[in-house]
Amino acid sequence: MKGRPLLPFAVTAIVGILLMIALSFVGLNQRTEMNADPAEETEEVTEFEDPVTAGGELAQQSCIGCHGGDLTGGAGPALTALDGVYSVEEIAEIILNGKGAMPAVSNLNDVEADAIAQYLLAESE
Ligand code: HEC
Repeated sequence: MKGRPLLPFAVTAIVGILLMIALSFVGLNQRTEMNADPAEETEEVTEFEDPVTAGGELAQQSCIGCHGGDLTGGAGPALTALDGVYSVEEIAEIILNGKGAMPAVSNLNDVEADAIAQYLLAESE
């Protein structure tokens, strides 16, 4: 038959194509892993799209231990009426450096401290 000798070539071609597709998927996976890793390692936040919401979440993680679950006071004073008392900068300063009996909250950077300050003033009466 005329077509017969071509069959081995067709098989080789198909195997080759499948191999290329498979390898490109392997490559894609490695690429996403490479892209994902640095993000996981560096948790440093440089910007928030919505600082007030992010600040609220961070306050839940970092402040309620001393300032109470709803920030109405605990070991530390209430943080619910800071508007007119402190500016965003002053609150961020307190978070990062501490004040009186309050230790510095050292796991936060200035972007995060600034977001919490914005949240506290936005929520403030
Ligand atoms: C280890 C306990 C502790 C933690 C954690 C803590 N605070 Fe405080 N905070 C205090 C204490 C105690 C004071 C009172 C300090 C003083 O005047 O001596 C205070 C005071 C403050 C004040 C000044 C309040 C005022 O009326 O003068 C602000 C603002 C504040 N904290 C914000 C925060 C924020 C925001 C967080 C979370 C990022 C936080 N604190 C986490 C204990 C804490």
